[in-house]
Amino acid sequence: MSDQHLAKNIIDIYRKYGRAWTELRGEYLYEQSWLDRFCEKLPSNSKVLDLGCGSGVPIARYLSEKGCAITGVDSSDVMLEMAQQNFPVETYPNHRWILGDMRNVQLNEDIDNNTESAFDGILAWDSFFHLTADDQRQMFAQFQRFSKIGTMLMFTSGTSEGEAIGEMFGEALYHASLSPDEYRELLAQNDFQVLEMVANDADCAGHTVWLAQKKSS
Ligand SMILES: C[S@@+](CC[C@H](N)C(=O)[O-])C[C@H]1O[C@@H](n2cnc3c(N)ncnc32)[C@H](O)[C@@H]1O
Repeated sequence: MSDQHLAKNIIDIYRKYGRAWTELRGEYLYEQSWLDRFCEKLPSNSKVLDLGCGSGVPIARYLSEKGCAITGVDSSDVMLEMAQQNFPVETYPNHRWILGDMRNVQLNEDIDNNTESAFDGILAWDSFFHLTADDQRQMFAQFQRFSKIGTMLMFTSGTSEGEAIGEMFGEALYHASLSPDEYRELLAQNDFQVLEMVANDADCAGHTVWLAQKKSS
């Protein structure tokens, strides 16, 4: 299968193995220190967009406990079903779970930098890195569209430009990364200031994490 096909296959893989992956992932919150840094600059009762939210456990749950209203987007119906079960609307009326592709998801309100409806935080944890390099480049326009001055943005990436094919339940699992310089350039072009970037963070299971904040243009 070509790399383009492998990238397209990602959505099907998480549809097929969403429950098994979630069980394997477990509830251990190894990303807590990064979520704390992300939350530090959020206003109270903030609106957070979680792109590739999975089942919402443990990440969205932690943010929810901190008082955030979550809009979770995931392209896997199985993941979304789990998120809806984990956060029943009667108990969590401020959360929304949307089946969609982060590359072109339409949210109900017309956001476009509207300060009322834009998000205070945008998270793409272990999801954005499944997109091709070109799709990742295009995503910065999405980040920009859903944000306003002060919006926190956090995502994980690879450490250098290229593609990496992992394995999940016997299927090839596509990942891609831009170079750190290109991420910095794209963030700057879209008025995001890098607050922190740690490659292979030993305190976060080796993740490479970007934390940025939208400044005035
Ligand atoms: C490795 S899981 C991470 C889930 C969650 N963020 C976490 O860290 O626990 C990747 C998630 O991204 C979702 N995903 C992959 N490509 C996507 C896309 N183009 N749009 C929306 N979600 C996507 C998958 O369905 C899956 O739930």
